[in-house]
Amino acid sequence: MSQQTKFLLEESQMPKFWYNIQADLPQPLPPALHPGTLQPLGPADLEPLFPMAVIEQEVSVEREIEIPEPVRDVFKLWRPAPLYRAHRLERALGTPAKIFYKYEGVSPAGSHKPNSAVPQAFYNAEAGVKRLTTETGAGQWGTSLSFAGHLFGLEVLVFQVRVSYDQKPYRRAVMETYGARCVASPSNETVYGRSVLAQHPDHPGSLGIAISEAVELAAQRDDTKYALGSVLNHVLLHQTIIGQEAMLQMQMADAWPDVVVGCTGGGSNFAGIAFPFIGHGLRGGPKPRIVAVEPAACPSLTRGRYAYDFGDTAHMTPLTKMHTLGSTFTPPGFHAGGLRYHGMAPLVSHCKELGLFEATAYTQGQCFEAGVLFARTEGIVPAPEANHAVKGAIEEALRCKREGRSETILFNLCGHGHFDMTAYQKYFAGDLKDEAYDEQELAMALSGLPSVPAGI
Ligand SMILES: Cc1ncc(COP(=O)(O)O)c(C=O)c1O
Repeated sequence: MSQQTKFLLEESQMPKFWYNIQADLPQPLPPALHPGTLQPLGPADLEPLFPMAVIEQEVSVEREIEIPEPVRDVFKLWRPAPLYRAHRLERALGTPAKIFYKYEGVSPAGSHKPNSAVPQAFYNAEAGVKRLTTETGAGQWGTSLSFAGHLFGLEVLVFQVRVSYDQKPYRRAVMETYGARCVASPSNETVYGRSVLAQHPDHPGSLGIAISEAVELAAQRDDTKYALGSVLNHVLLHQTIIGQEAMLQMQMADAWPDVVVGCTGGGSNFAGIAFPFIGHGLRGGPKPRIVAVEPAACPSLTRGRYAYDFGDTAHMTPLTKMHTLGSTFTPPGFHAGGLRYHGMAPLVSHCKELGLFEATAYTQGQCFEAGVLFARTEGIVPAPEANHAVKGAIEEALRCKREGRSETILFNLCGHGHFDMTAYQKYFAGDLKDEAYDEQELAMALSGLPSVPAGI
């Protein structure tokens, strides 16, 4: 085993194809349903919201899909992203485990999100679209689409979840620097936003509401489409560049993971690191344990129901089969804004049902504690979302210590926390509360799940 710290690929080694796990799954993904007819969706149903190239990726079962050259050209600004061996964290934990992390915080936005923002902006521009609307929770996705949209000549309008808008004013400033417009959601700019504000003027917002607002505007204008930063098949596909690069880098390190860890909000960075390894295992390669880590305050994978549900709160999106807490559920306003989503990506949920990975949940206090240890040993201040993956990896390393096993752990450090320092300050001041979600609200949201025709 090499004692090297950084494992870097040449630009020429950047993957030229995305990996589609649907080609290797033992059972196909349950279809998405039309919100009006409750019948399986056809590509045409998605046309008001997405360009055809993106819709084709959404429904594709091809194993490899080419990354267009103009997209790879933009990726060269920060990709291939580095893989690190966390020697100092290992020493601090006194673990015989070897910990590796793939670092996605080197992108312009500071996270994995541009991996999908760039291709989505490219395909929309190719289709003649002029304007994109979107939602953002952590601010990372909104920043990414603002950056990518400008590169491809698109106007971008971002609905930022209110609580995150208030916590992170500099995220908005970055979006504006890239030329986008950013409004707090719920907003007065949409019929749905106004209806939420009429009932709850101080509503903290949620990703489900912000998605409804962005979709409402996109559906109204021919020159406008919608871009989603997670959950959908094509977004997960775009993120697989992470795991594919990590595989090459693990080979450089003369190692292979026994455990792969990622945090889950909508599921895209987790899928990005995990799907290439799961697929490799399904095709006869080694099968690492795969661990998804989610917040205890928004536990869709560990406490949600696997059922058809809407992707947004106003019920404008298609229904997909996923682990859900109910589309009307508003998670408490904790600091990992990117993980405050009621549902999980249908593909990630399907893989969970197929037993292809495990899921676990931690409180934000536990995750910040892990993130601070990581910052003090490895130097990078993780995004609050990424702290969940750090916590998951540390728990695995401590298990190895207890069991005297020298396993290899790989996790995805999906972003840095430079715009999240208010949350860190609150943590140090002891003001970061581990807010439980409202059990009654959860029960109500779950009891309101839509019923779908038998046999689907
Ligand atoms: C840094 C970071 N990590 C994780 C997430 C969660 O999204 P996903 O589960 O799609 O990776 C977000 C979402 O905004 C994020 O900004």
